[in-house]
Amino acid sequence: MRKLFVKTHNVKNFVELMNNLIDKSNEVPKMGLVYGDPGLGKTRVAVWWANRNDAVYVRAQNNMTSHGILEKVVEELGEAPSKKSTDLMKQCIAHLRLNPQVIIIDEVDYLIGRFKTIETLRDLHDLTGAPVVLIGMQEVKTKLGKFRHLYDRISEIVEFKTFSKDDMEVIVEELSEIKITDEAKEIFFEKSNRFRQAIKGIATLENLAKTNGLNKIDVKQVKGLTIEK
Ligand SMILES: Nc1ncnc2c1ncn2[C@@H]1O[C@H](COP(=O)(O)OP(=O)(O)OP(=O)(O)O)[C@@H](O)[C@H]1O
Ligand SMILES: [Mg+2]
Repeated sequence: MRKLFVKTHNVKNFVELMNNLIDKSNEVPKMGLVYGDPGLGKTRVAVWWANRNDAVYVRAQNNMTSHGILEKVVEELGEAPSKKSTDLMKQCIAHLRLNPQVIIIDEVDYLIGRFKTIETLRDLHDLTGAPVVLIGMQEVKTKLGKFRHLYDRISEIVEFKTFSKDDMEVIVEELSEIKITDEAKEIFFEKSNRFRQAIKGIATLENLAKTNGLNKIDVKQVKGLTIEK
């Protein structure tokens, strides 16, 4: 399997959301929301974009407190985190006002149960002026909707969708090191429409070809392929 980054429609929508947020005037709130089913590439594109644009990427963990999330942000900003939460917020404000950076919080679902942590994300946005992008699962949009003060600040939303046939063509073409015939691809597309599935499927087909000395994958091999949904 080739280690390439594939520019799917979801990737293009993500980049557009980031550009739109950055271009907004100071008066407009700059919070973004990216959500969708598992395995569609939300985390991968966030890390890819963060590396290229010097953004802060933080992955939330189960039941993280507002102190915990601020500590991670400060570490990602390259500073030694203070002991007190109020000082952590001060560090974020001082750093980000001087060097504006986009902040991306992945797996935001983990924070939903904690009102205070959600309020901290709002403060982070309001007090630092930094665009803050939240990434979560399909249900996160409805769940965040209950936090009206935060939801009100979300000015850009992108839902990651399962892949179209165009996307799957590009994914197979760019990632598979073994040739897959056009007829075989048609069947493969019926079996997978998310990245995680596609990657597992391609890896299995590559192995199959290797163990059986095949130079291409045909209908027979794909028909026998099982990929968990
Ligand atoms: N643009 C891409 N190019 C190549 N591989 C990708 C791309 N996006 C995702 N992948 C691969 O697909 C798999 C699933 O991606 P990822 O973990 O980003 O999905 P996710 O939407 O964040 O899932 P979850 O909701 O479960 O966190 C990973 O192995 C990842 O490396
Ligand atoms: Mg993820």
